[in-house]
Amino acid sequence: MKGKRLPTSRRGRPVGIRVDGRPLTAFEGETVFAVLCLEGIFALRRPAAGHPVRGALCGMGACQECRVRIDGIPDRRACMTLVREGMEIETGGR
Ligand code: FES
Repeated sequence: MKGKRLPTSRRGRPVGIRVDGRPLTAFEGETVFAVLCLEGIFALRRPAAGHPVRGALCGMGACQECRVRIDGIPDRRACMTLVREGMEIETGGR
């Protein structure tokens, strides 16, 4: 394998999204969870008064801990949802 290199990763087309009202640039093919991580947003929701904020655990759609509101629809799994132009994401972990 000498001289062989892994292929250079490529990012998709830039897309404009908003996270908690803040405009961001993401890239097609990225999950909402990936974008939130890159922005340092790990607290995704607060389940009930007095309970600690929750964040993603599995990253593969099983635990349901990454639920956020996307385009007004609650409880969308951030790790299973790809970003798209104009997407509005609201976290509840603030
Ligand atoms: S992180 Fe577990 S379902 Fe999304």
